[in-house]
Amino acid sequence: MKAALVCLFCAFYLLPLFAESGENLFREKCSQCHALPDKEALNDKQWKAVLKTMQKRMQEAKKPMLTENELQKIYCFLINGNCS
Ligand code: HEC
Repeated sequence: MKAALVCLFCAFYLLPLFAESGENLFREKCSQCHALPDKEALNDKQWKAVLKTMQKRMQEAKKPMLTENELQKIYCFLINGNCS
């Protein structure tokens, strides 16, 4: 019983370490079709629009689309947001 509880705690603390960061997702997902774009090249609004366009392109290319969560993380990374 005690061990199970301890494990619940470790799962809680360790899970975020395995979750992909926005930066990792960006590097993996956004380099599939072209070179990685420069993070500083666009502003917040432009990134939002680009991400939508890329989502469509992934759909058209029959690549797995990003989940809402992944999109949010990548966006957050691109705009230098405080994403945890
Ligand atoms: C399914 C393939 C594909 C994926 C995956 C993809 N892109 Fe693109 N992207 C394109 C194509 C096609 C273009 C336009 C032609 C070019 O520049 O090579 C483009 C162009 C761009 C441009 C230049 C502006 C524009 O709209 O032409 C930016 C910025 C960009 N992508 C960002 C991203 C980001 C950020 C991601 C990850 C979320 C991403 N791309 C993932 C296909 C893709």
